[in-house]
Amino acid sequence: MKRIAVMTSGGDAPGMNAAIRAVVRYASTKGIEVYGIMRGYAGLIDDEFVPLTFKDVGGIMEKGGTILRTARCEEFKVESGRKKGLQNLEKHGIEGLVVIGGDGSLTGAAVLSQLFDFPTVGVPASIDNDINGTDMCIGVDTCLNTVMDAIQKLKDTASSHERAFIVEVMGRNSGYIALISGIVTGSEAVIIPEIPVDYQAVADKLLMGRKRGKINSIVVVAEGAASAYTVARYLEYKIGYETRITILGHIQRGGSPTSFDRLLASRLGTDAVQSLIDGEYGVMSGLQGNKIVRTPFEEVLRERKRLDLSLYELANVLS
Ligand code: ADP
Ligand code: F6P
Repeated sequence: MKRIAVMTSGGDAPGMNAAIRAVVRYASTKGIEVYGIMRGYAGLIDDEFVPLTFKDVGGIMEKGGTILRTARCEEFKVESGRKKGLQNLEKHGIEGLVVIGGDGSLTGAAVLSQLFDFPTVGVPASIDNDINGTDMCIGVDTCLNTVMDAIQKLKDTASSHERAFIVEVMGRNSGYIALISGIVTGSEAVIIPEIPVDYQAVADKLLMGRKRGKINSIVVVAEGAASAYTVARYLEYKIGYETRITILGHIQRGGSPTSFDRLLASRLGTDAVQSLIDGEYGVMSGLQGNKIVRTPFEEVLRERKRLDLSLYELANVLS
């Protein structure tokens, strides 16, 4: 293999740059040239290829976002767009592709691999942590630290005013971010799409907390379960004390990656290149336990990752 390409696609995630750096640097130590494709599948179709050298990726590991930029590209979902993309890969003499992104991006990678037999390897990067075949996606740890920090700050003002805060976090259809941030901030309740919400039970819990002398109440709600406004509407009149809403939004996707994300991205980016060298295509490099494991795209994408519901029990028991 003499020349490969790398792209980032879908929602950005902190640590994507560390993964790009690993791909470029590991490949160059193996004598492989690397091209970066700008703006994910959009740049693949629009022929936005840039050569990346060992030196070009210096100093990017600590940067949030992605230097290759990213996009959501509807055109790649139809045959004409996919064919244009494939033609561009062939035009540049690309022999293998590393796609860094979430489940949508990996679905695109699987299409390249399965429909066109193009050597493609995936690297999971998404704050949602909703991808099978890996315990953690790149960006999740940084996101959780951002959310934890924000909720901790909200607790200060919630205590001062003796208020309840409904905090809406991202995650698309997954409750992972809400659940973990609820546990690590000791929030009273977590509302996630995986568990039907019982507003009366949540209200009872908040009222019980007040009886025990708690002066703040935090409810973390996953965007995929309900909007913070809906939750507040149900709860405020049941609990009878002042409620405020905070929607954390895209702040959750920004910032310099944590050491965990930098290490994970370095390991996965390196393994993705090695996988191409090994001739093992149509797979995603993921973290299982403390090992890097390659899983075929079919298995990764067969179903949505299930949340470990014992963690929901833990959140309830400890709050
Ligand atoms: P993420 O990768 O973060 O989950 P999206 O779900 O938006 O983000 O997917 C990113 C991009 O991946 C899409 O905009 C599209 O270009 C590509 N993609 C998603 N699903 C498919 C599909 N079924 N076929 C081809 N490409 C797809
Ligand atoms: O997939 C990452 C994510 O941040 C989801 O948690 C969220 O639902 C979505 O992307 C938001 O997408 P956009 O940035 O296009 O608004």
